[in-house]
Formats: sequence, structure tokens, C-alpha cells
Amino acid sequence: MQFGTTTIESVAGNIVTMEFDAIVNAANSSLLGGGGVDGAIHRAAGPDLVHECRLLGGCKTGQAKVTRGYRLPAKWIIHTVGPVWRGGTNGEPEQLADCYRNSLACAVEKRARSVGIPAISTGIYGYPLDAAANTAVETISAYVKDNPDAFDRIALVCFDDNATRAFDAALEVN
Ligand code: APR
Repeated sequence: MQFGTTTIESVAGNIVTMEFDAIVNAANSSLLGGGGVDGAIHRAAGPDLVHECRLLGGCKTGQAKVTRGYRLPAKWIIHTVGPVWRGGTNGEPEQLADCYRNSLACAVEKRARSVGIPAISTGIYGYPLDAAANTAVETISAYVKDNPDAFDRIALVCFDDNATRAFDAALEVN
């Protein structure tokens, strides 16, 4: 999918190894690390990451905060807190959309031209993959349409075949 200078695509693999200007972390509200992609990013970035995170004072669901990337190839890590899935009628779609919007706004602030984003909330937080993928692609497309020259590449990073299938389907229909 292409808008202005921006290519929006899915890419399979482990986000901590990928060469983006910024990567997004699916964090929790403490910002002090956890399992899933959060754990992988903290392990790969090294111990200085959590020291910087401690200074941020946590993060609310749907919000995003930036740190340096430390030992990662990425220069910046954008930490966002996705909604825990509670059936879909507790504002989860809007909160998930906020994660993508606020993460892209942080990337623009840091002049990050390439951004890798994992499938926020679809692991431990239990958000259904297809619904999350559609919200992700709709939100990113809308943001890029409003900011057509802000990025070169936004990649939806898929850690397994299921995620790849869901995000490719979402990219097809949006
Ligand atoms: N690279 C890319 N994607 C990954 C990686 C990785 N190294 N590891 C996991 N993922 C994928 C998962 O397969 C899932 O599709 O990231 C997506 C999000 O899953 P989680 O990491 O479980 O995140 P989330 O569902 O948002 O739950 C957040 O989990 O890790 C804790 O501290 C975190 O409490 C927070 C909660």
C-alpha cells in the first residue's frame, strides 16, 4: 500500500533484529518490561533501556513514550500500551487505534522515516488478530493520508504465520 512517499507493508520476523529508524514496543503501563515482544526488546536493547524507562513515570493505555534504542539497530523505541481485550465493548478498538496514532506521532517528532510495529495487544493481551489487524491498517492508512510525506516505510512486523495472514488480508481490503 502506498501513500505519498510512504510504503505500508507487512514483514515477517523478529522485530529486535530489524533495521528501522524506530520500532514500537507493545509494553505494559509500568514500562519496566515484561514478556512477549516487550521482553525481547528489553533483552536485546540491554540494561540501560529500563533505566531510561524508569524516568518516564509509566504510560497509560493508548499513549506512547519514546526512548533511545541502545543496543538495538533501531535508533528509537516507541513504547505504547495496548488495551487488554475484554470482549470489544469497553473501548478496546478506540484504545488500540490510539496506540497506532500516538506511536506514529512520536515517530514524526523524532523524524523517524522507517517504523516497525508489532501486532499490538494480540498476544498476552488477547486481542483477536483479524480485528486488531484491521484497526491497525485503517488507523495507519488514515494517519499517513493526513501526513503523506512523513515516512518512507511503515512495516507491520508479524512474528508468526497467523499474524502475516491477518495483516496481509487487512492490507488487501483497506
Ligand atoms: N518480534 C515481533 N513480534 C513479536 C515478538 C518479536 N520478537 N515477540 C512477540 N511478538 C508478537 C506476538 O506474537 C504478538 O503478535 O507481538 C504481538 C504482541 O504480543 P505481546 O508481546 O504478548 O504483547 P501484548 O499482547 O500487547 O501484551 C502486552 O505482554 O509482554 C507483556 O509487558 C507486556 O504486559 C505487556 C503485555
